[in-house]
Amino acid sequence: MEQATVQDSDADAVMLRMIWGVHISRAVYVAAELGIADLLADGPMSSKQLALITRTHEPSLYRVLRLLGALGVFSHDPPDHFGLTSLGGRLRSNAPAGMRQWALVLDTVGGVRPFEHILDSVMTGRPGFDRAFGTGMFEFLARNPEKATVFDAAMSERTAAIAASVADAYDFSDTNTVVDVGGGNGVLMVGLLQRHRHLQGVLFETPEVAARTRAILQNADITNRCEVIAGDFFEQVPAGADCYLLANVLHDWDDSRAVEILRNCRRSMADKGKVVIIERLIPEDASDPVPTLLSDLNMLVFTGGQERTNIQYEQLLKSAGLKLAAVQTVAFPYGVFIGLPA
Ligand SMILES: C[S@@+](CC[C@H](N)C(=O)[O-])C[C@H]1O[C@@H](n2cnc3c(N)ncnc32)[C@H](O)[C@@H]1O
Repeated sequence: MEQATVQDSDADAVMLRMIWGVHISRAVYVAAELGIADLLADGPMSSKQLALITRTHEPSLYRVLRLLGALGVFSHDPPDHFGLTSLGGRLRSNAPAGMRQWALVLDTVGGVRPFEHILDSVMTGRPGFDRAFGTGMFEFLARNPEKATVFDAAMSERTAAIAASVADAYDFSDTNTVVDVGGGNGVLMVGLLQRHRHLQGVLFETPEVAARTRAILQNADITNRCEVIAGDFFEQVPAGADCYLLANVLHDWDDSRAVEILRNCRRSMADKGKVVIIERLIPEDASDPVPTLLSDLNMLVFTGGQERTNIQYEQLLKSAGLKLAAVQTVAFPYGVFIGLPA
């Protein structure tokens, strides 16, 4: 038999990580759920101490931490002490650039259950989520407020990481009123209104999210410049504004639904209005496409939406009576697409 080459054994290791990628994902989830990174914030601890505080089975917790140690999420001082690395610091609650909510979000939308149907999604184009739960993801969240709160927090955490770059990148000097369509808990809106003191804001959301966002925003220093309105963006969006923001919204929907949302913005906008679309880019240069392409599979399986190329965004805008005026990169992997009346 021929000897395996070095490249073969490298390929084995890389392929094994991919085959068992779910283990890594679930181990990170365990650490996030148990708040391990917060517990290690003041210094290393043993797995025994961590198990005592988290009321877990120490030998099993140890095995999860050992894997995460080998992956660089925690430092591992044998036999059983673990510390925080800068990578693991991303799992701290409320840390700058923290990603703990993001590590928890999969469980709020069914864990791996929707992904059990990915082959069906590939064969039919239908979201695995609908197969697993018999309903769309946003309907499911509307009926499960506790899960929806975690979902909203994860969206806010991710959008907080790009809000400043959007607020800085785009020139809002000729804009008076911004409608944030599907604006979640208002992280982007707050960032824009704090940075551009002349702007008035309207955050438009489903009734359930709008109610939670009103409560969250009531103590923000921009409250008197921001109204929260409940509704359905497939019916209409608030009229008369000169800027309609769509951040992480169009990627949730297939082309015909995305065009409906854009048409409603087009119909409602003031003369000289515009849409500002903030979405992940599928890079045309040498930058890493994987973050966007992972998100793309989330859309395939969870909502039936998709990530799009610049040309695909241009086509969506065209179908809605708009034209693509500019594309600007902001914090990786995001871009801003400006659409003006055609
Ligand atoms: C992926 S989240 C993005 C939230 C926010 N724009 C951000 O970037 O963090 C999509 C948002 O669209 C809202 N949404 C879904 N269907 C909607 C509808 N029919 N009308 C209004 N908002 C809707 C959801 O409640 C959710 O907050």
